[in-house]
Amino acid sequence: MRLPTLISSVLGTAYLVAALPAANIEARGTCGSFAPAGFCPASPTSTGPSSGPSSTPGSCTNPTIRKEWRTFSVDEKKAFLSAVKCLGSKPHNWDLVQSNTGPDIPNMMTDPSISMYDDMVFTHIDLNHHIHSTGWFFPWHRWYLNVYARLLTTQCGYTGALPYWDWTQDAADFEHATFWDADPNSGVGTWGNPNNDYQIEDGAWGLNSGFKLHYPSTHAIRRQFTPQPYLQFPRPYLLADVNLLANETFTKDRLDASLFGFDGDFQGFQKSFQDYQGPHAGVHLMVGADLTGLCPGNAPASCVPGESWSPNDPLFFMHHAMVDKTWYDWQNRASNKYLFQGGSTQMLDSLASYDAYPLGSAPWLSSTSILPTGGWARFDTKSSVAIQDLFDTQNGYLCYTYQ
Ligand SMILES: *[C@@H]1O[C@H](CO)[C@@H](O)[C@H](O)[C@H]1NC(C)=O
Repeated sequence: MRLPTLISSVLGTAYLVAALPAANIEARGTCGSFAPAGFCPASPTSTGPSSGPSSTPGSCTNPTIRKEWRTFSVDEKKAFLSAVKCLGSKPHNWDLVQSNTGPDIPNMMTDPSISMYDDMVFTHIDLNHHIHSTGWFFPWHRWYLNVYARLLTTQCGYTGALPYWDWTQDAADFEHATFWDADPNSGVGTWGNPNNDYQIEDGAWGLNSGFKLHYPSTHAIRRQFTPQPYLQFPRPYLLADVNLLANETFTKDRLDASLFGFDGDFQGFQKSFQDYQGPHAGVHLMVGADLTGLCPGNAPASCVPGESWSPNDPLFFMHHAMVDKTWYDWQNRASNKYLFQGGSTQMLDSLASYDAYPLGSAPWLSSTSILPTGGWARFDTKSSVAIQDLFDTQNGYLCYTYQ
């Protein structure tokens, strides 16, 4: 364990923001594809909302219906869990690219132990500084989940839908929730063994299941129940209450406050939901260890913990499906669907900069900004994906709904 450095950079490392390749960023602020020619200022100074329907053609006549994990039958659970395990045995994607460097970004690995699952983890590590507390947060993670779903299908023959994890059902007694299921075929596993670096030893992905992660060192999934993670939070000035129990951040009431309180206000909605003491971060931090992004005990001394590592626990994708569902639910209220705004640079160094730029600062993003996709185009159905391709989950590029 590296408790002194615990969550030293969880959910936002601000000190090092490597630049994305300039071509990947469209820095035109409020100027989307619908702005009249000559309308866009060269250097926008504010983050106004940008909006407009997706221009993606295509059809989606039979959308996949993503369901809550506990509504899956035992057979559906088995199929999903084994497909994820399968991805952990598929070879490295040789198209994968590293775009960023920094103390918390290890070099991309390509040795034979590296699986396509590890590659997905790496893409999140590589882009960590761009995709959290910026305008990329919701659209980029929607794209990421979609690629993950495609990989499960195309690489591992999975025919079902992605599950989401409605953690509001578990907030009251998170540690002992029925979600934690030790069944070796149909369970996601329980908590890790404190005497073995918090690696989980049960469920379909446990220590002896063969499912192994390789960033930043070889280990099985690690989970450490952490009821008060904010006590060790590196940026207490961003918190309202350092003593808060993390389960207070993802109750039904708290989620509803984000979902229903910000119609017409994309920035307010994202900030409320993605805030350190909001539902997104609270779940990451309470599960601890891998989902929080802590370094395994056998990690190199150079390991810098942070949210970058968090997809090491496949619960990441079930959690983020719930995150995506929340955006989807918000989009389907009032006229929120095509609302978007934000910058591409994290501003977490001080409360003042975070308050001024809760969704990041310049370069500004617009609905036509092209996502950084890390070398997954060959596995996707679109070679270049813009934010506006991700507003509508049934536009033909995307084709799913939530139940
Ligand atoms: C949070 O969890 C604790 C037990 O760990 C429980 O006593 C408390 O009631 C929970 N809070 C909510 C809002 O459910």
